Amino acid sequence: MRQAGRYLPEYREIRAEASGFLDLCYTPERAANVTLQPIRRFHADAAILFSDILVIPDALGQKVSFIEGEGPVLNPVRNGADVAMLDPSRTLGHLAPVFETVQRVRTELPDEVALIGFCGAPWTVASYMIEGGSSRDFSIIKSWAVRERRCFETLMGILVESTAAYLLGQVEAGAQALQIFDTWAGNVPARDFDEWVISPTARIVASVKMQAPDIPIIGFARGVGDRLESYIRGTGVDAVGLDSSMTAAEAAQKIQPICPVQGNLDPAYLMVGGDEMERAANEILDELSGGPFVFNLAHGVHKDTPVENVERLAEIVRSRQAS
Ligand code: CP3
Repeated sequence: MRQAGRYLPEYREIRAEASGFLDLCYTPERAANVTLQPIRRFHADAAILFSDILVIPDALGQKVSFIEGEGPVLNPVRNGADVAMLDPSRTLGHLAPVFETVQRVRTELPDEVALIGFCGAPWTVASYMIEGGSSRDFSIIKSWAVRERRCFETLMGILVESTAAYLLGQVEAGAQALQIFDTWAGNVPARDFDEWVISPTARIVASVKMQAPDIPIIGFARGVGDRLESYIRGTGVDAVGLDSSMTAAEAAQKIQPICPVQGNLDPAYLMVGGDEMERAANEILDELSGGPFVFNLAHGVHKDTPVENVERLAEIVRSRQAS
């Protein structure tokens, strides 16, 4: 999950120096620094690369910008001609600064701290590409994908190919685990779940595994409820990140026996802190520590989170690790 960001004063400082969010992602010295900021403060067991899932559409030639207070804005892809304009041959060259960031971070991190690379899953990335930004009801992508199945499949194919190459580039540069974020997987119609969530993710996993069989891949399919089990079986991911729609006890019973889990403290508890946070964190640790488990949030840190709550949470988890 996102652990860097605006809740950290040292992030806001570097963010203000950069000319924009993407500029920050593409400046290896700054991006490496921002990746390391939460590690310096909280001494987490793993760092997650500072980049964004939307560097892929940017690399393919779609216009992407991040507008203060509004989030991402993209010049939307709406038809076959727009899809034909995307140029996968640009991807790796365009993303070279991200690979340099990975190299820098790996050199600076202590050996025992893992570096996680990541990407967005094709459905989630396509939603931003087609909707032109964040969406409330996903009506544009869904109607487009249904009406123009062939064209949508072409776009998904482009995303599968460039995303797999992007992940392998991160591994070559030093990433030791990978996470695939399908934040909006829960908005896919159930009858299309195999085609739009499982299949593209499975193709990426297979392609990465062919060249990097030992790199663990974590899937995060948010909001998919009971379909998480078919996601695990169908995609071949090695572990899953859990959202907060499942209690830790349910996860221990249903998911952990088939797959290592990561999660799942809702970031609202981190924002509130105190006893509420402590009880919720301990409940997760109680329920899941008996099996393969990585403590994490259920989604990224919210920008209004007090830094001291994150410090306290790290202490709680570490004290339980020691016991
Ligand atoms: O913490 C880290 O270092 C990880 C880096 C990371 C970012 N984005 C940096 C970022 C990761 C793993 C992401 C993933 C991402 N980006 C997802 C999937 C995971 C999730 O959170 O659901 C999605 C959907 C995006 C797309 C995206 N990026 C949106 C919708 C926004 C705007 C929302 C917001 O909080 O402003 C971003 C911007 C973004 N990406 C920020 C960060 C730290 C915030 C912008 C800023 O603080 O300058």
